[in-house]
Amino acid sequence: MRVLGIETSCDETAVAIYDSRDGLLSHLLHSQISLHAQYGGVVPELASRDHICKLLPLTKEVLKKARCAWSDLRGIAYTQAPGLMGALLVGATFGRALGYALAIPTLGINHLEAHLLAPFLEENHPKFPFLALLVSGGHTQLIQVEAVGEYKLLGETLDDAAGEAFDKVAKLLGLPYPGGPILSKLAQEGCPGIFEFPEPMRKNKELNFSFSGLKTAVLQAWEKSLKTEQIKKDIAYAFQKTVVDALISKTMLALEKNKLNNVVVAGGVSANTLLRKKMDALSLRMGLSVFYPRLEFCTDNAAMVAYTGCYYLDRGISDKNLKIQVKARGSLL
Ligand code: KG4
Ligand code: ZN
Repeated sequence: MRVLGIETSCDETAVAIYDSRDGLLSHLLHSQISLHAQYGGVVPELASRDHICKLLPLTKEVLKKARCAWSDLRGIAYTQAPGLMGALLVGATFGRALGYALAIPTLGINHLEAHLLAPFLEENHPKFPFLALLVSGGHTQLIQVEAVGEYKLLGETLDDAAGEAFDKVAKLLGLPYPGGPILSKLAQEGCPGIFEFPEPMRKNKELNFSFSGLKTAVLQAWEKSLKTEQIKKDIAYAFQKTVVDALISKTMLALEKNKLNNVVVAGGVSANTLLRKKMDALSLRMGLSVFYPRLEFCTDNAAMVAYTGCYYLDRGISDKNLKIQVKARGSLL
C-alpha cells in the first residue's frame, strides 16, 4: 500500500510517501523558521496561512520525486492532534479533500504516536516490547510499548516538557527562536562546574519529571550574574546537563522496574547530542539496545506520519465519515 503522509501541526509543512513494500519513497519539508523568527516564536495565524500556500506545491514535488502519480496513492494520512488548531485544520482539510477526490481512504494520525514509531523508518529498528522516552516540545513521557497501538504510560512531566524547558530557558537567556537547538549548541562551548543545578525529582522513585523549578533556578542564576556571553554558555551547559541527567535517571529506573532492555528515544529533544551520547553510554553499561530516528526524523516530519498511516490503513483502519476533526490537545494514552 502506498500512502501520502501530511504533517502541519506547527511550524513545518511536510509531506512524504511511504510504501508498505518499498519503504520510504520520498519526503520533503518546508520550515517556517524565517517567517516566525522576527516575532521570537510561532505566530499561529501566519503558520496556518503558510501551510495553505506550501502544501499543494510540496505534494506535487514529493510525488514527482517518488516517480509516483496521484493515481498510485492508496491512502492518505494526516496529523490530526495535538498541535495548533488552524495549522492542523489545513493539513486535515487538504488530506480529506484529496482522499475524497481520489476516492481513497484517509486517516487522522496522532502526532505523538508518529514520533514514537519514527524509529521503524530505519533499517535497524526495535523489537517489541520496548520502553519509549518521548521528548518533544509539548510532551515528556515514558511509555511501555507492547505493540503498535498498545501503549502504557509509566511516567510523564508534571509541568513543563523537556523541549519546552529548552525553549523557555533559551528565551530567558535572550537566544533567538527556535531556542532549543540553539541553546544546545551554545552549551557545547560552556565550561563544566561553573554552575550546578539540582537534578529535579532525583530522590523520588516515581517515574515522573519536573522541569519548571529548574527553569526558575536558571533565571535566578542568570539574573544574579554579570550576564556575559561566556556566562550564558556556562549556564546553558549546566542546564542541558541537568535535563539530560534527569531524563537518563528516570529512563534507567523505568527499565529496571519494568524489566525491559530495548529503548526508543523519539521527539524533537531526541536530536540532542548530549542525550544521545549519555543514552549510548547507558546502553553499554546496562547491555541495552537503544534506537533513535535519524536526526531529520527526530523533529517534526511527514515520513513518520506516512509510516504510521500506512500501518493502520493497510489493516483497513480509516476515517469513518466525512467529518473533519482536529484536536489541539490529544494525548496518546
Ligand atoms: O517533536 P518536535 O519537533 O515538535 C513537537 O512535537 O513538539 O519537538 C520540538 C522540540 C522543541 O521544544 C525544541 O526546542 C526541541 O524539540 N529540540 C531540541 C533540540 N532540537 C529540537 N532540544 C534540545 N536539543 C536539541 N538539539
Ligand atoms: Zn513533534
